[in-house]
Amino acid sequence: MTSLPETIDTLLINCRAGTMAKEALSPIEKAAIAVAKGKIAWIGRQKDLPEKILDRSLKTIDCQNRWILPGFVDCHTHLVFGGSRSNEFEMRLNGATYEEISNQGGGIISTVTATRKASREALYNAAEKRVTHFLHHGITCLEIKSGYGLDLETELKMLDVIARLNNNSPVHIEATFLGAHSLPPEFKDDADRYIDHIIHDMLPAVKQQGIATAVDVFCEKIAFSLEQTQKVFIAARKLGLNIKLHAEQLSDTSAAAMAAQLGALSCDHLEYLSVPSAQKMAENQTVAVLLPGAFYYLKETQKPHVKLFRDLNIPMAVATDLNPGSSPVHSMTLVLNMACLLFDMTCQEALLGATINGARALGLDNEKGSLETGKHADLVIWDIDRPGDLCYLAGWSPVDLVMTHGNIVLDHLTH
Ligand code: NIG
Ligand code: FE
Repeated sequence: MTSLPETIDTLLINCRAGTMAKEALSPIEKAAIAVAKGKIAWIGRQKDLPEKILDRSLKTIDCQNRWILPGFVDCHTHLVFGGSRSNEFEMRLNGATYEEISNQGGGIISTVTATRKASREALYNAAEKRVTHFLHHGITCLEIKSGYGLDLETELKMLDVIARLNNNSPVHIEATFLGAHSLPPEFKDDADRYIDHIIHDMLPAVKQQGIATAVDVFCEKIAFSLEQTQKVFIAARKLGLNIKLHAEQLSDTSAAAMAAQLGALSCDHLEYLSVPSAQKMAENQTVAVLLPGAFYYLKETQKPHVKLFRDLNIPMAVATDLNPGSSPVHSMTLVLNMACLLFDMTCQEALLGATINGARALGLDNEKGSLETGKHADLVIWDIDRPGDLCYLAGWSPVDLVMTHGNIVLDHLTH
Protein backbone atom coordinates (compact mmCIF):
# COMPACT_ATOMS: atom_id res chain seq x y z
CA MET A 1 0.00 0.00 0.00
CA THR A 2 1.25 3.50 -0.80
CA SER A 3 2.17 5.55 2.25
CA LEU A 4 -0.63 7.50 3.92
CA PRO A 5 -0.51 11.29 4.04
CA GLU A 6 0.33 12.96 7.36
CA THR A 7 -3.13 14.49 7.55
CA ILE A 8 -6.50 13.17 6.41
CA ASP A 9 -8.75 16.14 5.69
CA THR A 10 -12.04 14.26 5.69
CA LEU A 11 -12.92 10.72 6.65
CA LEU A 12 -16.26 9.39 5.39
CA ILE A 13 -17.49 6.45 7.42
CA ASN A 14 -20.54 4.22 7.48
CA CYS A 15 -21.23 4.37 3.75
CA ARG A 16 -21.87 2.09 0.82
CA ALA A 17 -19.54 2.88 -2.06
CA GLY A 18 -20.42 2.30 -5.72
CA THR A 19 -16.81 2.59 -6.81
CA MET A 20 -17.22 2.12 -10.60
CA ALA A 21 -13.78 0.50 -10.58
CA LYS A 22 -12.96 -2.37 -12.97
CA GLU A 23 -15.76 -1.51 -15.38
CA ALA A 24 -18.52 -2.45 -12.93
CA LEU A 25 -20.41 -0.97 -10.02
CA SER A 26 -17.89 -2.79 -7.78
CA PRO A 27 -19.69 -1.94 -4.57
CA ILE A 28 -18.12 -1.92 -1.12
CA GLU A 29 -20.62 -2.37 1.71
CA LYS A 30 -19.81 -0.87 5.13
CA ALA A 31 -17.14 1.26 3.52
CA ALA A 32 -14.94 4.18 4.55
CA ILE A 33 -13.20 6.74 2.34
CA ALA A 34 -10.30 8.92 3.49
CA VAL A 35 -9.69 12.17 1.61
CA ALA A 36 -6.45 14.14 1.69
CA LYS A 37 -5.15 16.98 -0.49
CA GLY A 38 -8.10 16.70 -2.85
CA LYS A 39 -7.61 13.01 -3.50
CA ILE A 40 -8.83 9.68 -2.23
CA ALA A 41 -6.08 8.53 0.13
CA TRP A 42 -7.77 5.30 1.16
CA ILE A 43 -10.98 3.41 0.35
CA GLY A 44 -12.11 0.04 1.60
CA ARG A 45 -14.17 -1.76 4.19
CA GLN A 46 -14.42 0.23 7.37
CA LYS A 47 -13.28 -2.70 9.48
CA ASP A 48 -9.98 -2.66 7.54
CA LEU A 49 -9.43 1.06 8.13
CA PRO A 50 -5.85 1.56 9.32
CA GLU A 51 -5.61 2.97 12.87
CA LYS A 52 -3.32 5.70 11.54
CA ILE A 53 -6.14 7.14 9.41
CA LEU A 54 -8.41 7.52 12.42
CA ASP A 55 -5.60 9.25 14.30
CA ARG A 56 -4.81 11.61 11.46
CA SER A 57 -8.35 12.64 10.48
CA LEU A 58 -9.30 16.28 10.97
CA LYS A 59 -12.99 15.70 10.30
CA THR A 60 -15.20 12.63 10.21
CA ILE A 61 -18.59 12.42 8.49
CA ASP A 62 -21.04 9.68 9.37
CA CYS A 63 -22.76 8.90 6.05
CA GLN A 64 -25.63 7.06 7.76
CA ASN A 65 -25.29 4.06 5.43
CA ARG A 66 -25.90 6.23 2.35
CA TRP A 67 -24.56 5.36 -1.09
CA ILE A 68 -21.51 7.26 -2.36
CA LEU A 69 -20.73 7.27 -6.07
CA PRO A 70 -18.19 9.21 -8.10
CA GLY A 71 -19.56 12.59 -9.20
CA PHE A 72 -21.18 12.44 -12.62
CA VAL A 73 -18.98 13.38 -15.58
CA ASP A 74 -21.05 15.00 -18.33
CA CYS A 75 -18.69 14.57 -21.27
CA HIS A 76 -20.72 16.33 -24.00
CA THR A 77 -22.49 19.67 -23.57
CA HIS A 78 -23.05 22.93 -25.42
CA LEU A 79 -23.82 24.72 -22.18
CA VAL A 80 -22.66 28.22 -23.20
CA PHE A 81 -25.10 29.83 -25.63
CA GLY A 82 -27.17 32.93 -26.20
CA GLY A 83 -30.94 33.04 -26.68
CA SER A 84 -33.43 30.20 -26.67
CA ARG A 85 -34.97 27.90 -29.28
CA SER A 86 -38.23 27.27 -27.51
CA ASN A 87 -40.04 28.56 -30.62
CA GLU A 88 -38.40 25.85 -32.75
CA PHE A 89 -39.58 23.25 -30.28
CA GLU A 90 -43.12 24.36 -31.05
CA MET A 91 -42.42 24.46 -34.81
CA ARG A 92 -41.32 20.85 -34.59
CA LEU A 93 -44.47 19.96 -32.68
CA ASN A 94 -46.32 21.39 -35.67
CA GLY A 95 -44.47 19.09 -38.05
CA ALA A 96 -41.24 20.87 -39.12
CA THR A 97 -38.10 18.70 -38.96
CA TYR A 98 -34.72 19.61 -37.42
CA GLU A 99 -33.19 19.58 -40.91
CA GLU A 100 -35.95 21.79 -42.39
CA ILE A 101 -35.54 24.33 -39.59
CA SER A 102 -31.78 24.25 -40.07
CA ASN A 103 -32.10 24.73 -43.85
CA GLN A 104 -34.32 27.79 -43.27
CA GLY A 105 -31.61 29.52 -41.23
CA GLY A 106 -32.97 28.40 -37.88
CA GLY A 107 -31.38 25.69 -35.80
CA ILE A 108 -27.74 26.09 -34.87
CA ILE A 109 -27.47 29.34 -36.87
CA SER A 110 -30.20 31.07 -34.86
CA THR A 111 -28.21 30.32 -31.68
CA VAL A 112 -25.10 31.61 -33.46
CA THR A 113 -26.83 34.94 -34.12
CA ALA A 114 -27.91 35.22 -30.47
CA THR A 115 -24.48 34.18 -29.17
CA ARG A 116 -22.65 36.69 -31.37
CA LYS A 117 -24.93 39.45 -30.06
CA ALA A 118 -24.65 38.45 -26.39
CA SER A 119 -22.12 40.18 -24.16
CA ARG A 120 -19.49 38.09 -22.39
CA GLU A 121 -21.22 38.92 -19.12
CA ALA A 122 -24.65 37.79 -20.32
CA LEU A 123 -23.24 34.52 -21.68
CA TYR A 124 -21.34 33.93 -18.44
CA ASN A 125 -24.31 34.63 -16.17
CA ALA A 126 -26.68 32.35 -18.07
CA ALA A 127 -24.11 29.54 -18.22
CA GLU A 128 -23.14 29.92 -14.57
CA LYS A 129 -26.74 29.17 -13.54
CA ARG A 130 -26.68 25.99 -15.60
CA VAL A 131 -23.34 24.88 -14.11
CA THR A 132 -24.62 25.49 -10.58
CA HIS A 133 -27.78 23.54 -11.34
CA PHE A 134 -25.66 20.66 -12.66
CA LEU A 135 -23.46 20.69 -9.56
CA HIS A 136 -26.52 20.55 -7.30
CA HIS A 137 -27.67 17.52 -9.25
CA GLY A 138 -24.47 15.55 -8.88
CA ILE A 139 -22.31 16.58 -11.84
CA THR A 140 -18.75 17.34 -10.70
CA CYS A 141 -17.01 17.42 -14.09
CA LEU A 142 -18.28 18.51 -17.46
CA GLU A 143 -17.22 19.34 -20.96
CA ILE A 144 -18.44 22.43 -22.78
CA LYS A 145 -18.03 23.02 -26.49
CA SER A 146 -17.77 26.31 -28.35
CA GLY A 147 -19.43 26.26 -31.76
CA TYR A 148 -22.10 28.95 -31.54
CA GLY A 149 -19.73 31.68 -32.70
CA LEU A 150 -18.37 30.36 -35.99
CA ASP A 151 -16.13 33.41 -36.25
CA LEU A 152 -12.83 33.76 -34.47
CA GLU A 153 -13.97 36.55 -32.17
CA THR A 154 -17.09 34.79 -30.89
CA GLU A 155 -15.47 31.35 -30.67
CA LEU A 156 -12.74 32.87 -28.47
CA LYS A 157 -15.40 34.74 -26.48
CA MET A 158 -17.17 31.44 -25.77
CA LEU A 159 -13.93 29.68 -24.84
CA ASP A 160 -13.04 32.55 -22.55
CA VAL A 161 -16.43 32.26 -20.81
CA ILE A 162 -15.81 28.50 -20.41
CA ALA A 163 -12.37 29.20 -18.89
CA ARG A 164 -13.91 31.68 -16.43
CA LEU A 165 -16.61 29.19 -15.46
CA ASN A 166 -13.89 26.62 -14.80
CA ASN A 167 -11.87 29.06 -12.69
CA ASN A 168 -14.83 30.25 -10.63
CA SER A 169 -16.79 27.03 -10.13
CA PRO A 170 -16.04 23.94 -8.06
CA VAL A 171 -17.04 21.88 -11.10
CA HIS A 172 -14.10 20.85 -13.29
CA ILE A 173 -14.75 21.98 -16.87
CA GLU A 174 -12.98 20.84 -20.05
CA ALA A 175 -13.29 23.10 -23.09
CA THR A 176 -13.66 21.77 -26.63
CA PHE A 177 -13.33 23.93 -29.74
CA LEU A 178 -16.22 23.22 -32.14
CA GLY A 179 -15.62 25.85 -34.84
CA ALA A 180 -16.81 23.26 -37.39
CA HIS A 181 -20.30 22.96 -35.94
CA SER A 182 -22.17 24.55 -38.85
CA LEU A 183 -21.36 26.67 -41.89
CA PRO A 184 -21.53 30.37 -40.96
CA PRO A 185 -23.54 32.67 -43.30
CA GLU A 186 -20.34 34.56 -44.28
CA PHE A 187 -19.06 31.40 -45.97
CA LYS A 188 -22.33 30.35 -47.62
CA ASP A 189 -21.72 27.79 -50.38
CA ASP A 190 -18.01 27.71 -49.60
CA ALA A 191 -17.51 25.22 -46.81
CA ASP A 192 -13.98 24.43 -47.98
CA ARG A 193 -12.95 28.04 -47.51
CA TYR A 194 -14.38 28.02 -43.97
CA ILE A 195 -12.51 24.80 -43.20
CA ASP A 196 -9.29 26.48 -44.41
CA HIS A 197 -10.07 29.44 -42.13
CA ILE A 198 -10.52 27.05 -39.20
CA ILE A 199 -7.24 25.29 -39.95
CA HIS A 200 -5.10 28.35 -40.69
CA ASP A 201 -6.56 31.00 -38.37
CA MET A 202 -8.85 29.60 -35.70
CA LEU A 203 -7.03 26.45 -34.59
CA PRO A 204 -3.64 28.20 -34.18
CA ALA A 205 -5.30 30.99 -32.13
CA VAL A 206 -7.09 28.46 -29.91
CA LYS A 207 -3.87 26.53 -29.44
CA GLN A 208 -1.84 29.67 -28.75
CA GLN A 209 -4.27 30.82 -26.05
CA GLY A 210 -4.36 27.33 -24.53
CA ILE A 211 -8.11 27.52 -23.95
CA ALA A 212 -9.29 24.19 -25.35
CA THR A 213 -8.00 20.68 -24.88
CA ALA A 214 -9.97 19.10 -27.71
CA VAL A 215 -11.38 19.83 -31.15
CA ASP A 216 -14.77 18.58 -32.32
CA VAL A 217 -16.43 18.55 -35.77
CA PHE A 218 -20.07 17.92 -36.74
CA CYS A 219 -19.86 15.59 -39.72
CA GLU A 220 -23.28 15.39 -41.39
CA LYS A 221 -25.09 16.38 -44.59
CA ILE A 222 -26.28 19.59 -42.88
CA ALA A 223 -22.76 20.33 -41.58
CA PHE A 224 -19.35 19.13 -42.88
CA SER A 225 -18.18 16.26 -45.12
CA LEU A 226 -15.93 13.37 -44.20
CA GLU A 227 -12.99 14.95 -46.07
CA GLN A 228 -13.46 18.34 -44.39
CA THR A 229 -13.75 16.68 -40.99
CA GLN A 230 -10.56 14.73 -41.58
CA LYS A 231 -8.63 17.87 -42.59
CA VAL A 232 -9.60 19.60 -39.34
CA PHE A 233 -8.68 16.54 -37.28
CA ILE A 234 -5.27 16.14 -38.90
CA ALA A 235 -4.52 19.83 -38.22
CA ALA A 236 -5.72 19.48 -34.61
CA ARG A 237 -3.56 16.39 -34.03
CA LYS A 238 -0.53 18.25 -35.41
CA LEU A 239 -1.12 20.91 -32.77
CA GLY A 240 -1.31 18.25 -30.06
CA LEU A 241 -5.04 18.70 -29.41
CA ASN A 242 -7.39 15.81 -28.69
CA ILE A 243 -10.20 15.10 -31.13
CA LYS A 244 -13.87 14.29 -30.64
CA LEU A 245 -16.64 13.87 -33.18
CA HIS A 246 -20.35 14.47 -33.71
CA ALA A 247 -21.36 11.92 -36.33
CA GLU A 248 -23.72 9.30 -37.64
CA GLN A 249 -26.58 11.17 -35.93
CA LEU A 250 -28.84 11.59 -38.95
CA SER A 251 -27.00 9.44 -41.53
CA ASP A 252 -23.90 7.24 -41.88
CA THR A 253 -20.84 9.17 -43.08
CA SER A 254 -18.11 6.71 -41.94
CA ALA A 255 -16.54 9.60 -40.04
CA ALA A 256 -16.41 7.59 -36.82
CA ALA A 257 -14.06 5.04 -38.41
CA MET A 258 -11.80 7.83 -39.66
CA ALA A 259 -11.80 9.58 -36.27
CA ALA A 260 -11.12 6.34 -34.41
CA GLN A 261 -8.09 5.71 -36.61
CA LEU A 262 -6.81 9.20 -35.86
CA GLY A 263 -7.01 8.44 -32.13
CA ALA A 264 -10.22 10.31 -31.26
CA LEU A 265 -11.16 10.22 -27.60
CA SER A 266 -14.81 9.71 -28.50
CA CYS A 267 -17.37 9.59 -31.28
CA ASP A 268 -20.75 10.93 -30.24
CA HIS A 269 -24.41 10.30 -31.24
CA LEU A 270 -23.80 7.24 -33.53
CA GLU A 271 -27.39 6.18 -34.23
CA TYR A 272 -26.46 5.36 -37.86
CA LEU A 273 -22.99 3.89 -37.17
CA SER A 274 -22.11 1.00 -39.51
CA VAL A 275 -20.66 -2.31 -38.31
CA PRO A 276 -17.23 -1.70 -39.96
CA SER A 277 -17.02 1.72 -38.28
CA ALA A 278 -17.91 0.15 -34.93
CA GLN A 279 -15.10 -2.35 -35.47
CA LYS A 280 -12.64 0.50 -36.01
CA MET A 281 -13.85 2.11 -32.79
CA ALA A 282 -13.38 -1.19 -30.96
CA GLU A 283 -9.84 -1.61 -32.31
CA ASN A 284 -8.93 1.85 -31.09
CA GLN A 285 -11.01 1.69 -27.89
CA THR A 286 -12.74 4.93 -28.88
CA VAL A 287 -15.52 5.82 -26.47
CA ALA A 288 -19.05 5.80 -27.91
CA VAL A 289 -20.86 8.75 -26.34
CA LEU A 290 -24.60 8.14 -26.49
CA LEU A 291 -26.96 11.10 -26.25
CA PRO A 292 -30.49 9.94 -25.56
CA GLY A 293 -31.68 13.52 -24.91
CA ALA A 294 -31.12 14.49 -28.56
CA PHE A 295 -32.66 11.22 -29.76
CA TYR A 296 -35.71 11.92 -27.63
CA TYR A 297 -36.10 15.60 -28.52
CA LEU A 298 -35.72 14.95 -32.24
CA LYS A 299 -38.16 12.04 -32.00
CA GLU A 300 -35.63 9.81 -33.77
CA THR A 301 -36.47 6.19 -34.34
CA GLN A 302 -33.09 4.68 -35.26
CA LYS A 303 -31.39 3.65 -32.02
CA PRO A 304 -27.63 3.33 -31.55
CA HIS A 305 -26.43 -0.31 -31.66
CA VAL A 306 -25.92 -0.76 -27.94
CA LYS A 307 -25.79 -4.54 -28.27
CA LEU A 308 -23.05 -4.23 -30.90
CA PHE A 309 -21.04 -1.85 -28.69
CA ARG A 310 -21.44 -4.29 -25.82
CA ASP A 311 -20.41 -7.30 -27.96
CA LEU A 312 -17.38 -5.45 -29.35
CA ASN A 313 -16.42 -4.17 -25.91
CA ILE A 314 -16.59 -0.52 -26.97
CA PRO A 315 -16.74 1.73 -23.88
CA MET A 316 -20.09 3.52 -23.72
CA ALA A 317 -20.58 6.92 -22.12
CA VAL A 318 -23.83 8.86 -21.77
CA ALA A 319 -24.15 12.65 -21.62
CA THR A 320 -26.80 15.36 -21.55
CA ASP A 321 -25.71 17.09 -24.80
CA LEU A 322 -27.28 20.14 -23.14
CA ASN A 323 -27.98 22.61 -25.95
CA PRO A 324 -30.88 24.90 -26.84
CA GLY A 325 -31.95 23.00 -29.96
CA SER A 326 -31.76 19.25 -29.93
CA SER A 327 -31.34 18.55 -26.21
CA PRO A 328 -32.45 21.15 -23.65
CA VAL A 329 -31.90 18.45 -21.03
CA HIS A 330 -30.66 19.59 -17.63
CA SER A 331 -30.64 16.34 -15.72
CA MET A 332 -28.19 13.46 -15.71
CA THR A 333 -30.66 11.22 -13.87
CA LEU A 334 -33.15 11.82 -16.68
CA VAL A 335 -30.41 10.88 -19.18
CA LEU A 336 -29.71 7.69 -17.21
CA ASN A 337 -33.38 6.81 -17.36
CA MET A 338 -33.56 7.49 -21.10
CA ALA A 339 -30.36 5.50 -21.71
CA CYS A 340 -32.06 2.50 -20.10
CA LEU A 341 -35.53 2.85 -21.59
CA LEU A 342 -34.76 4.28 -25.04
CA PHE A 343 -31.37 2.65 -25.71
CA ASP A 344 -31.78 -0.60 -23.73
CA MET A 345 -28.70 -0.04 -21.58
CA THR A 346 -28.54 -1.72 -18.19
CA CYS A 347 -28.49 0.47 -15.08
CA GLN A 348 -24.86 -0.49 -14.54
CA GLU A 349 -23.93 0.47 -18.12
CA ALA A 350 -25.73 3.79 -17.81
CA LEU A 351 -24.02 4.56 -14.48
CA LEU A 352 -20.60 3.61 -15.87
CA GLY A 353 -21.43 5.83 -18.85
CA ALA A 354 -22.07 8.83 -16.60
CA THR A 355 -18.93 8.28 -14.51
CA ILE A 356 -15.80 6.40 -15.57
CA ASN A 357 -16.60 6.19 -19.29
CA GLY A 358 -17.55 9.87 -19.34
CA ALA A 359 -14.13 10.57 -17.82
CA ARG A 360 -12.54 8.36 -20.45
CA ALA A 361 -14.28 10.33 -23.23
CA LEU A 362 -12.43 13.37 -21.87
CA GLY A 363 -9.08 11.63 -21.38
CA LEU A 364 -9.48 12.10 -17.61
CA ASP A 365 -10.02 8.50 -16.50
CA ASN A 366 -6.71 8.39 -14.64
CA GLU A 367 -7.98 11.15 -12.37
CA LYS A 368 -11.76 11.02 -12.31
CA GLY A 369 -14.82 8.84 -12.77
CA SER A 370 -14.30 6.16 -10.10
CA LEU A 371 -13.67 5.92 -6.38
CA GLU A 372 -10.12 4.57 -6.21
CA THR A 373 -7.04 5.46 -4.22
CA GLY A 374 -5.11 8.28 -5.87
CA LYS A 375 -8.05 9.65 -7.85
CA HIS A 376 -9.63 13.06 -7.29
CA ALA A 377 -12.08 13.14 -4.41
CA ASP A 378 -15.05 14.11 -6.61
CA LEU A 379 -17.99 12.29 -5.11
CA VAL A 380 -21.67 12.47 -4.29
CA ILE A 381 -23.57 11.08 -1.32
CA TRP A 382 -27.04 10.05 -2.48
CA ASP A 383 -30.21 9.49 -0.50
CA ILE A 384 -31.16 6.32 -2.37
CA ASP A 385 -31.71 2.67 -1.48
CA ARG A 386 -29.67 1.27 -4.36
CA PRO A 387 -27.63 2.71 -7.26
CA GLY A 388 -30.28 1.63 -9.78
CA ASP A 389 -32.57 4.25 -8.20
CA LEU A 390 -30.59 6.90 -10.09
CA CYS A 391 -31.87 5.37 -13.35
CA TYR A 392 -35.33 4.63 -12.00
CA LEU A 393 -36.23 7.97 -10.40
CA ALA A 394 -36.32 9.85 -13.72
CA GLY A 395 -35.17 13.40 -13.31
CA TRP A 396 -35.08 13.39 -9.52
CA SER A 397 -31.63 13.91 -8.00
CA PRO A 398 -31.69 13.10 -4.30
CA VAL A 399 -28.26 14.60 -3.56
CA ASP A 400 -27.19 14.78 0.09
CA LEU A 401 -23.60 15.98 -0.27
CA VAL A 402 -21.26 16.91 -3.11
CA MET A 403 -17.49 16.98 -2.82
CA THR A 404 -15.15 18.17 -5.57
CA HIS A 405 -11.40 17.90 -5.24
CA GLY A 406 -11.82 17.10 -1.56
CA ASN A 407 -13.92 20.18 -0.77
CA ILE A 408 -17.51 19.85 0.40
CA VAL A 409 -19.42 22.18 -1.90
CA LEU A 410 -22.98 21.21 -0.98
CA ASP A 411 -24.15 19.54 2.22
CA HIS A 412 -27.70 18.57 3.11
CA LEU A 413 -26.44 15.65 5.22
CA THR A 414 -24.85 17.31 8.19
CA HIS A 415 -26.51 20.74 7.96
O1 NIG B 1 -25.13 17.63 -30.39
N1 NIG B 1 -25.41 17.75 -33.63
C1 NIG B 1 -25.02 18.88 -33.56
N2 NIG B 1 -24.92 19.63 -32.48
C2 NIG B 1 -25.79 19.61 -31.38
C3 NIG B 1 -27.00 20.38 -31.68
C4 NIG B 1 -26.80 21.78 -31.45
C5 NIG B 1 -28.00 22.63 -31.75
O2 NIG B 1 -29.02 22.18 -32.32
O3 NIG B 1 -27.87 23.78 -31.35
C6 NIG B 1 -26.06 18.23 -30.90
O4 NIG B 1 -27.17 17.69 -30.96
FE1 FE C 1 -23.65 17.94 -29.36
